[in-house]
Amino acid sequence: MSDKPLLSVAVIGAGVGASHVAGYRAHPDRYRMAAVCDLDIERARKVAGEGTGTRAMTDMAELLADPEIDVIDVSLPPHLHVSATIAALEAGKDVVCEKPMTTSMADVDKVEEAMRRTGKKVLPVFQYRFGPGYQKLLHLMDKGLTGKPYICSLETHWKRGAAYYDVPWRGTWSGEQGGAIVGHAIHVHNLMTRLLGPVVEVAAFLDTKVNPIETEDCGAISMRTQSGALVTSSITLGSATDMSRMRLCFEKLSVESGLEPYTIGGGNWTFTAVDPVNQAGIDAALAEVTGVVERYEGLALHIHMALTGEESAGCATFAEARHSIELITAIYQAARNRTVVSLPLEKAHPLYGGWVPELEGAA
Ligand SMILES: NC(=O)c1ccc[n+]([C@@H]2O[C@H](COP(=O)([O-])OP(=O)(O)OC[C@H]3O[C@@H](n4cnc5c(N)ncnc54)[C@H](O)[C@@H]3O)[C@@H](O)[C@H]2O)c1
Repeated sequence: MSDKPLLSVAVIGAGVGASHVAGYRAHPDRYRMAAVCDLDIERARKVAGEGTGTRAMTDMAELLADPEIDVIDVSLPPHLHVSATIAALEAGKDVVCEKPMTTSMADVDKVEEAMRRTGKKVLPVFQYRFGPGYQKLLHLMDKGLTGKPYICSLETHWKRGAAYYDVPWRGTWSGEQGGAIVGHAIHVHNLMTRLLGPVVEVAAFLDTKVNPIETEDCGAISMRTQSGALVTSSITLGSATDMSRMRLCFEKLSVESGLEPYTIGGGNWTFTAVDPVNQAGIDAALAEVTGVVERYEGLALHIHMALTGEESAGCATFAEARHSIELITAIYQAARNRTVVSLPLEKAHPLYGGWVPELEGAA
């Protein structure tokens, strides 16, 4: 018999929500998969599965009123994240929220205030870190084997075409509320800030070159982080194939990820000592990292740990989600004003109320 508290979880939104359901179901000692809610009942039924004991339903309000449910997983389109998150907090639930958690700093503050008021938590979905390559790098950093970071380059080179944009909310300011920096590169940017610290300065060029959409699909971004590292991020949704990559040069070590677009944390990472004499020590430390639970399964595991107070939880925190929104805000400001923007941003920042063009200035 497991001594873990069994959390009853419901997923709202049965698109990527299907992967979340699989993640929770991988831990039957930690979660009871109670319900899947989607306006499209057939989609909800398919993800809930027959004979699983998981309810399929369409009414979010009915779900939130169920006292049996502990955790609400918000896998809705971006423009619905804040309202669903706050409603779930007010119903006394902890929340797991897909990226982007909000699309303004003002809404981050609203969510934080709702967390304070209700005593409940919000944890973001950043599943890319749950892969052995990325975890190995964190381990080397913990052991002091990397030295100070010099430089990091990030590539999010993915292919998106008409079929992707057939879903009406995508590519629009009102629905997706942003382009490739909000929907795609947000993942590697979070991986980078977990390693190198929050971004303190940013300059950026953004453009729409690939598809006939409202939001950006290409970007070239330069950043400096709190640790002093210099970072470049190259983004396009017009690559011939999908690939993601991180390359980092530290004082004692150079690290390169594999090229897997959606599982960059796994794959074939290389760790090369600057002084070959240190390679054996690095290899020995790398061998200490075993049994990494990957992707959504790893995310579900670490969310459970975070919600039940296990100290070693390694999922992204609310503070990281806040910084991801702050960074997007700063990138839009830098690109639109052709300027270098310093972070953290103040409430008086012109895009505090949102970067979506018609929301600018509204708090
Ligand atoms: N973490 C990742 O790697 C990853 C991958 C894909 C998508 N996402 C994010 O997940 C979110 C959802 O994306 P998606 O691709 O699954 O979108 P989607 O459009 O495929 O699915 C969203 C679902 O929400 C349902 N829905 C909308 N309004 C609803 C309501 N009021 N009540 C109940 N159901 C409702 C829709 O019917 C739809 O089935 C987005 O924020 C996206 O950025 C994250």
